[in-house]
Amino acid sequence: MAQILDGKIAAQKILDTVREGVVTSTQYNFRKPGLAVIVVGDNPASQVYVGHKLKACESVGIFSKEYRLPSSAAMEEVTLAIDELNRSQNIDGILVQMPLPSHLDAINLVNRIDPSKDVDGFTPHNQIRLLQGRKGLFPCTPLGIMRLLEINNVTVRGKHAVILGRSIIVGKPLSTMMLESNATVTVTHSHTEHLKEICQKADILVAAVGRPGFVHGSWIKPGAVVVDVGINRITNPSAAPYLKLSEPERYSQLINKGSLLVGDVRFGEAEQVASFITPVPGGVGPLTVAMLMSNTLDAYRMRKK
Ligand SMILES: NC(=O)c1ccc[n+]([C@@H]2O[C@H](COP(=O)([O-])OP(=O)(O)OC[C@H]3O[C@@H](n4cnc5c(N)ncnc54)[C@H](OP(=O)(O)O)[C@@H]3O)[C@@H](O)[C@H]2O)c1
Repeated sequence: MAQILDGKIAAQKILDTVREGVVTSTQYNFRKPGLAVIVVGDNPASQVYVGHKLKACESVGIFSKEYRLPSSAAMEEVTLAIDELNRSQNIDGILVQMPLPSHLDAINLVNRIDPSKDVDGFTPHNQIRLLQGRKGLFPCTPLGIMRLLEINNVTVRGKHAVILGRSIIVGKPLSTMMLESNATVTVTHSHTEHLKEICQKADILVAAVGRPGFVHGSWIKPGAVVVDVGINRITNPSAAPYLKLSEPERYSQLINKGSLLVGDVRFGEAEQVASFITPVPGGVGPLTVAMLMSNTLDAYRMRKK
């Protein structure tokens, strides 16, 4: 049976360190670090994610401010908000909550953020620094995955890491981080052939596809480390028949509650084969928020210097 890579415990460790860092950095009456979150529209999932981020700020002593704009907001309005925050002396981190309404150009908006305040690590400046192996502000989810492995003493060096998904939020930056840590990396996507066979060769398998139950237990090499990044809400039990067999308790939760969060990996099957595995929820998700706090403190310290 696989050992659980507990994201909540690892995130707590990171948050404790950030909290101590905030206390140390703000002694002698320095202002607190500040994070601004721009939210456009009223996507219900975004409300939940932003809520977690603001709560985390409060828990570690980071000042936070939410900027809400209507879903009809034009590019100029969002741009003005970013420009104002770029100039603000009290704000060290700026993030634009995704997804944005489809009429907005997300890439152009993100690129407008001052790279020294880009706590999501999505600006070209920080992407290049990551590729060059230099210090910078890097995407929180892959950073969180690397920290989770490190905290649990999972060796990355020399291992074959297979990453399912090539988004700029997860797959691409994670592949660079894994390479920097001397793994041998395979990145797969929707055009990849022989996916199952590729997965079966992975010492570390990371699933970031966004499809419930995508990775079967039979795809996993015995003893592999499995990191499930996917967050999928299912409401239809027929979308997850595998739960009935391998996770009957979760299946009955789905029936009783009407919805359930699941990852991309069939957890009940995978935990029989893997050596380590992240659950969903309680795996990668909490790390993402913790690394956002860590990035905000780093940005603050850089500005203070
Ligand atoms: N835990 C967290 O904090 C956290 C953070 C971010 C994301 N997530 C979750 O992680 C999942 C992925 O997020 P994302 O933003 O990276 O998603 P995304 O931008 O939609 O990317 C999904 C990736 O999966 C690939 N893919 C889709 N179908 C595939 C198939 N049949 N075979 C192989 N690859 C396939 C896509 O390939 P193509 O490039 O060819 O289209 C794409 O590269 C989502 O469930 C999201 O909610 C969780």
